This record gives sequence, structure tokens and C-alpha cells, in this order.
Amino acid sequence: MCGIVGAIAQRDVAQILLEGLKRLEYRGYDSAGMAVIGSDQTIERVRALGKVQALADCMTQPLLGGVGIAHTRWATHGEPSERNAHPHVSGNNIALVHNGIIENHTELRQQLEDDGYQFQSETDTEVIAHLVHREQQVRNDLLASVRFVAKLLRGAYGAVVMDSNSPDKLVVARSGSPLVIGLGIGENFIASDSLALLPVTRQFIYLEEGDVAEITRTSVYIEDANGVQVERPVQESTASYDAGNKGNYRHFMLKEIYDQPQAVRNALESRLADDHVLEQAFGTDASAIFAQVRHVQIVACGTSYHSAMVARYWLESLAGIACSVEIASEYRYRKSVVPEKSLLVTISQSGETADTLAALRMARHLGYLATLAICNVGASSLVRESDLAFMTRAGVEIGVASTKAFTTQLVGLAILVLSLAQHNNINPEQLKQLVAALKQLPEKLEETLQLAGDIENLAQGFADKHHTLFLGRGDQYPIAMEGALKLKEISYIHAEAYAAGELKHGPLALIDEDMPIVVVAPNNELLEKLKSNVEEVRARGGLLYVFADVDAHFESDDTLRVINVPHTDPWLAPVVYTLPLQLLSYYVAIIKGTDVDQPRNLAKSVTVE
Ligand code: G6P
Repeated sequence: MCGIVGAIAQRDVAQILLEGLKRLEYRGYDSAGMAVIGSDQTIERVRALGKVQALADCMTQPLLGGVGIAHTRWATHGEPSERNAHPHVSGNNIALVHNGIIENHTELRQQLEDDGYQFQSETDTEVIAHLVHREQQVRNDLLASVRFVAKLLRGAYGAVVMDSNSPDKLVVARSGSPLVIGLGIGENFIASDSLALLPVTRQFIYLEEGDVAEITRTSVYIEDANGVQVERPVQESTASYDAGNKGNYRHFMLKEIYDQPQAVRNALESRLADDHVLEQAFGTDASAIFAQVRHVQIVACGTSYHSAMVARYWLESLAGIACSVEIASEYRYRKSVVPEKSLLVTISQSGETADTLAALRMARHLGYLATLAICNVGASSLVRESDLAFMTRAGVEIGVASTKAFTTQLVGLAILVLSLAQHNNINPEQLKQLVAALKQLPEKLEETLQLAGDIENLAQGFADKHHTLFLGRGDQYPIAMEGALKLKEISYIHAEAYAAGELKHGPLALIDEDMPIVVVAPNNELLEKLKSNVEEVRARGGLLYVFADVDAHFESDDTLRVINVPHTDPWLAPVVYTLPLQLLSYYVAIIKGTDVDQPRNLAKSVTVE
């Protein structure tokens, strides 16, 4: 989790670091800090509890110096506080920022204390600073010291170190947490995400697992895990400089909700022919692999897991291929049996979620036919470590609560399902219709967004409630789950989702006038069943909000509010019905006055376990 940014330049770097941190706040925002090497070769450090703006407010006197590191934190060891904020220092010369978790920190801490080091924080990170300091006393070669220390660490880290006794370099190490070097002219940079560096460069080198690198103003030297010098390719980023800007929208989340028609258009672009889908979107080997697939295992976390659940319904009904779906943190720690000819699919917005990545790495040895990542970040670890990949092209998503990443994942999954169906005797006429429906999806989403005003009016009914229930059936059940997740994430109202048929087995006991119930009701083959479930709730005094197709013929009355969603092909209804639920949670959060883009205790990209 946590965001890292570093710079080495002839100019003062504090502003560059601060701007970088603001762009990385999605990785964590409970505290932030910065250290630079001043002209007299001393380390100057500022840290603050709270968001990056709190750090900026502390810096009434800008830090002066051309070498610096900075960090925005999401606490794992030690409460959010100024003293636990990074950079951590050792002696008067070493400063370090770290993203990840050092699993053997207790034992290392004990050794360091025995050696006379005094700890200033409760973090696992501080051990690295002291270890580097200890080595530097002997070696006086920062790269060699970091390389040595890296071998002592167990766990996951991306770390950047500077030594004011060697003020012409930054040394960085990557193992399990992403790091990217940004190349400038006469200046170089480092960050945990290229987004942080877009204002200063477009040229990036992505470090690989186990890499250690030394960065000066004019050079980059990289060694791989075996200590052998390596050249890593320089990649040019085409991401928009302003991608991290919310324009005229009040929040990133709202902007990202409205981005969805275009994001879906981008996700579909050059991936559909008239009557079939282009499997090359998944990679050159995709066709040969897809032809063999008999089972699909999908693994993901959070919102991405919900998109996987929708895909299960689609895969089994349209492609006739068995599909299992599991939360990555569960999958990675259990012994599982992999059916023959099984494809492992991981889904992740960031491509850096620790549990999903670990599940992929663990599964590599289990005999899968191939691995496929559905992901929004091309240079991410997940994509680089998978055999096949589908880029969702959602564009940068800043709001912690995922919106456009989810709907574009659904598009990627829809294309995957049709790709597999193409190898599995799908009726060509049906395939053509499904492709046609996909092409219409962006317009359907535009139409659906016009419901915003109506939904804003409904939101008041939720703001003073403490619990809500979301109901759906079939492929709308995961959409109910996603709606409930959005509401709890940003409005802090307890929200639970149920497959509507399961109501009678428990949750009906909860129904009263204080429990609003949200129902997603497109006109599909389960509509009549769902209507019976709605009646079960009504009979017990529940207040219902039903998002329904016009043809579903729900009538509003005292106990039931109907919001008509544009008519859509049932197979893509999960994508369309997602939008009203996103808007609902957004407007409820606005009334409640919560921090929509950065809800408490959460982070956008969870790169620790
Ligand atoms: C965090 C985010 C969620 C996201 C989940 C998985 O919990 O707050 O919005 O769905 O991580 O992230 P990924 O990048 O793997 O999709």
C-alpha cells in the first residue's frame, strides 16, 4: 500500500515530491512525510499525521535540496501518527521510505537493539533504516549495503534509501511491491506508480522482482536478484498528465462514474468484429489456449471479485464452461484441486493487489493450462507475470471506491466469455446478437446516467438509516453485492446483499420500516421469482427501492419506489444496473458528509497482505 516518490536533480525537489505524493494518495493517506539532503549534507525531514495536504501545510519553509524521498502511508505496523510516518532515519545520515511488510521485523529489531540501535517508531520499516546504517558503517557503499540488507528481509518491500554522506545517489530495492524509475534530462525519479511522475517525465523503467538499483542524476544502474547487472527496457507512457485531475466534478468518484460510457467504449475498441469477438485482445497465444479450456478459475479481491462472480453466470450459460470463483486471500492459502484444462483468470484494477498477485504466483505450479490477467494497469506485476492479459483501458481511477474499473472489467469478462464460447459451438446468430448488444453498451450507460437526479432525490431516505439490504437474483446478485459494498465503503452504512431467494432463510427477520431494501430487477427470466421475493418483504413492512426495467411493470406506492432503468439486453444488464447503485451510494455519502474519494480506513491499492 503506501506511496513512494523520490527524486535526484539539480533543482530543489520538494515540490516535485509533494505533487507526486498527492497523486499517490490513493495508496494510503493516514500520514505523510518527506526528507531531503540539504546543501550542508544533512537530512531535513518533515512528517505529518493526516493527508498530504497536512504535510504541505507544515512546510511553511520549503525544504531545499536536490535529493529527496517522500511517502504517503497506510498503516500496517504501528498506528497512524507522526512518529510512525516515513521517512525513517538512522544515524544522522540514512533516510528511507518503504512500502510493504517486513515479516521478520521483530527478530531483526531484537538484533539491532542488541547492537545498540534505539527505535523511534513501532513500524517494521525502521529496521531497514538501521540495517542499512549498520552496513554503511562497514561498507560505505550504499548499493552494496542495500543489496546485503535486502537478503536479510523476509516479506514484501519497495524501498528507497538515501545517505547524506553519499548525496549523489538514491538506492532502491524491489521485492513484492512495485517501483518505477522515471528518467529525466539531468535528473531522475523513483515512485511506486508512474502516475506520480507524469508531471516530470514520460520515460519509465519498471523494476522487476529482486532488482536493486542505484540512481544518480545522470545514470541508472540496475542489478537483478542474482546481483548481475541488467538492462530493463525504457517504456514511454501515454497516460494523460491530467489523468489525476477531477475537472469540474466535485469528487473523483463522480467523475469516474460519468467516465464510464467512454471507458467502456475504450474497452470495446478494436476488440469486436461484426459477428464475433477478437481473441487477440488477450494476446497472440490466446486462440490456441482458449480452444483447449474446459474450466475457468477466477481469483480476485473486493470489487474485482464481484465482476468475477458475474462472469461465472455468463461463462456457464453462454460458453458452457464450468467456472469457479474465489476471493484471492482465501484461494492462496488452501490446497485446491485444479480440474484438467483449466484457465486461471485473475482480475485486478491495479494489478498489484498483494493477495491476487500471491494467488497467481502460488497457482503457477498447480498445473493450469495458462494464466490470464484482466487488469487496468499495463505495466503492473499481474500483467507482466501472466501468460495472457486483457487491458481494461478504464483510465486512471483515483476514487478508492472502484467504479469504472468494475464496469470495464465486466466488458473484458464479456469478451472473454464470448471468446471461449466461439470455441464451444455457440450459435453464430446468438453470438452476433451478443456482440451487437455489447456495441450498444456505451449508449445504454449514457442513458442510465440520466437517472442521476431521481437517484439523488432517493438518497435522503437512506442517510439516517443504519442498515440496508440489497437484493438481486442470478447475475444481478453480484451487482447487489457490489451496490452494498459501494454504500458501506463511502457512506459507512451497514449494507448486506442477499440472493433474493435466500431471504426466507434468515434476513426476513430483519425487515422493518428502518431497513431500506434495494432491489435490482431487470426484465430477465428470474423476474417473476424476484417479484415474489419483493412481496415477501412488502408483507413485513419493508420499504423498497426497486431499480427495474420498464417492462417489469412494478408500480410505485407508499412502500415501494420504482426507478425505471433503460431497457437493455438482459445479458448486459449487470453492467447497466451497476451505475444507479454507484450513484445512490455517492449521493447518500454526500448527504452524510463523508470523505467520498478517500473513505476512512481504506486504500485504493492494497499491496500488502
Ligand atoms: C481495495 C480497493 C477496492 C478494490 C480492491 C481490489 O480494497 O479499495 O476498490 O476493489 O482493493 O483491488 P484491485 O486493484 O485488485 O482490483
